[in-house]
Amino acid sequence: MLTTAIILILSAISFCAGQLSGRTCTISPLGVGRDDTDQVLAAIAKCGHGGRTVLQHGVFNITRKMTWDLVDAKVDLHGFLSFVPDIDFWLNANNTYRVVFIQSQASWFVITGQDFEVDAHNTGGIQGNGQPWWDFFTTVPREDGDGRPIALTLFRAVRGVIRNFAIEAQPFWCNCVAESQSVVYDGMRCNASNENPTFAGQNIVPNTDGIDTYRSDNVSLLNWDITCGDDCLAIKGNSTNIVAENITCRGGNGIAFGSLGQYFNLTDIVQNVFMQNLTMTRINASVQPNMQNGVYFKSWDGSINGVPPTGGGAGPGFAQNITLKNVVLDRVNRPTTISQTNGGHSGDLPSMYKFEDIHYDNWSGTALTNEVIALECSAAVNCTDITFEGFNVSVPAGETPEIICQNAEDVSGLGAACS
Ligand SMILES: *[C@@H]1O[C@H](CO)[C@@H](O)[C@H](O)[C@H]1NC(C)=O
Ligand SMILES: *[C@@H]1O[C@H](CO)[C@@H](O)[C@H](O)[C@H]1NC(C)=O
Ligand SMILES: *[C@@H]1O[C@H](CO)[C@@H](O)[C@H](O)[C@H]1NC(C)=O
Ligand SMILES: *[C@@H]1O[C@H](CO)[C@@H](O)[C@H](O)[C@H]1NC(C)=O
Ligand SMILES: *[C@@H]1O[C@H](CO)[C@@H](O)[C@H](O)[C@H]1NC(C)=O
Ligand SMILES: *[C@@H]1O[C@H](CO)[C@@H](O)[C@H](O)[C@H]1NC(C)=O
Ligand SMILES: *[C@@H]1O[C@H](CO)[C@@H](O)[C@H](O)[C@H]1NC(C)=O
Ligand SMILES: *[C@@H]1O[C@H](CO)[C@@H](O)[C@H](O)[C@H]1NC(C)=O
Ligand SMILES: *[C@@H]1O[C@H](CO)[C@@H](O)[C@H](O)[C@H]1NC(C)=O
Ligand SMILES: *[C@@H]1O[C@H](CO)[C@@H](O)[C@H](O)[C@H]1NC(C)=O
Ligand SMILES: *[C@@H]1O[C@H](CO)[C@@H](O)[C@H](O)[C@H]1NC(C)=O
Ligand SMILES: *[C@@H]1O[C@H](CO)[C@@H](O)[C@H](O)[C@H]1NC(C)=O
Repeated sequence: MLTTAIILILSAISFCAGQLSGRTCTISPLGVGRDDTDQVLAAIAKCGHGGRTVLQHGVFNITRKMTWDLVDAKVDLHGFLSFVPDIDFWLNANNTYRVVFIQSQASWFVITGQDFEVDAHNTGGIQGNGQPWWDFFTTVPREDGDGRPIALTLFRAVRGVIRNFAIEAQPFWCNCVAESQSVVYDGMRCNASNENPTFAGQNIVPNTDGIDTYRSDNVSLLNWDITCGDDCLAIKGNSTNIVAENITCRGGNGIAFGSLGQYFNLTDIVQNVFMQNLTMTRINASVQPNMQNGVYFKSWDGSINGVPPTGGGAGPGFAQNITLKNVVLDRVNRPTTISQTNGGHSGDLPSMYKFEDIHYDNWSGTALTNEVIALECSAAVNCTDITFEGFNVSVPAGETPEIICQNAEDVSGLGAACS
């Protein structure tokens, strides 16, 4: 009797300890000058399979690359993982992972596994300490694959959720999801804002993309707020069944599909993408001078110019069945463009990459130029089936909106001539 009662009480306690039946590991930052990497990795090793890991409020000092392998697990990240800004250390290729195949990009923090949730409760996430990185790279050339680390990488993750997460001052891409399925990001804030007055008015934060999606299926990006100096979202090769809802992009290049077709030997497929409730807004020019596009599509051209990660081209593929609905633009340079000459030279072959079945629905707001729509498609394949419904973006007073269509077939709803 007594034994049964004790077992019942114990199982009730362990059930209440976490929403999962396994154990709970709780850690707090060790304090200034101390290194938290070991205790974070130990907690994940102990509770990352079938358990719950709680990182309390405060700053966890992370000094080396880290993988969390999570299976049937929950992580409550109330505080921040602060990655030491030791640029020489991270640029040594031995000190990061190279799990993101495209452009050989580096990662300092990888989450992998299945059936997990990482909840940062709108109080925690990652401190990227980007300012010294951005300062350093004002005098050193930036190249894809040079080793600047992605702040948060989901790699081979299945049914993972990232919730109410903040990434402050990402040195490079804020997020990447690669080779993953059925991932939900609900609540993501990234903010790459230069605070060094020496560089006021300059974009010293190129490549601070909000996310790049690659080789991943069934990914939802919900409730994002991104301040950056590059692509807010970048949908790259083999991204299928992607949903983006309630996205605010502050500064940078806008939402990109691409670049696509960089690898001549790989087909890039982008299919079934639904985006709604997008706001693209220009911010204080002394912090971030660019707000280039609303949503834009880009492929490399049909010739090979160099090799990846920095060069390439001539890749085949298609981007198909894309809907862009309820989009508000606030002083963007160009609301929407398709261009197919990335990395190209005059005299190159036209791109073999095909854009088709793209639907614009209910766009409003303002552009700072009159180049409202530019569909500059490849003569080798044409763009086909592009529709516009309720596309009402204003151009500067006194200017006439310009709509460019090159090699675009079955374009409807423009309500104006296409030149
Ligand atoms: C982080 O840990 C390293 C290594 O112990 C230490 O040198 C550094 O001062 C710590 N940083 C902070 C902000 O505590
Ligand atoms: C990386 O590690 C390898 C193997 O330990 C070593 O030979 C190489 O010198 C290291 N590279 C750098 C840049 O430290
Ligand atoms: C897509 O992902 C969601 C969230 O993980 C999941 O509920 C749904 O079953 C997935 N759909 C498919 C077709 O895999
Ligand atoms: C981004 O960070 C800058 C500098 O810290 C701050 O002024 C700005 O309010 C932040 N933006 C958002 C949207 O949180
Ligand atoms: C949209 O996302 C922002 C975070 O970026 C959030 O604060 C806001 O509540 C969301 N709006 C809706 C209607 O869910
Ligand atoms: C999108 O915006 C519309 C109109 O404001 C609103 O009715 C709808 O709930 C929003 N949907 C999402 C998923 O944010
Ligand atoms: C495609 O080319 C890249 C080099 O640009 C190489 O790393 C990769 O292995 C090749 N992939 C295939 C499937 O041939
Ligand atoms: C995309 O998927 C197709 C087939 O599903 C494959 O042939 C191609 O190599 C993949 N491309 C990339 C970039 O992985
Ligand atoms: C096109 O994409 C939408 C999601 O935006 C999806 O519901 C629909 O089934 C797709 N159409 C086809 C023909 O696959
Ligand atoms: C833009 O930011 C600069 C530097 O922080 C500040 O001095 C200026 O007042 C801001 N301008 C506006 C319009 O907020
Ligand atoms: C069009 O988009 C605006 C801005 O998101 C929204 O307020 C409005 O409800 C949308 N209209 C329709 C018919 O969905
Ligand atoms: C592109 O479209 C034009 C005009 O409809 C047509 O004449 C041409 O044959 C098309 N080219 C291809 C490659 O489909």
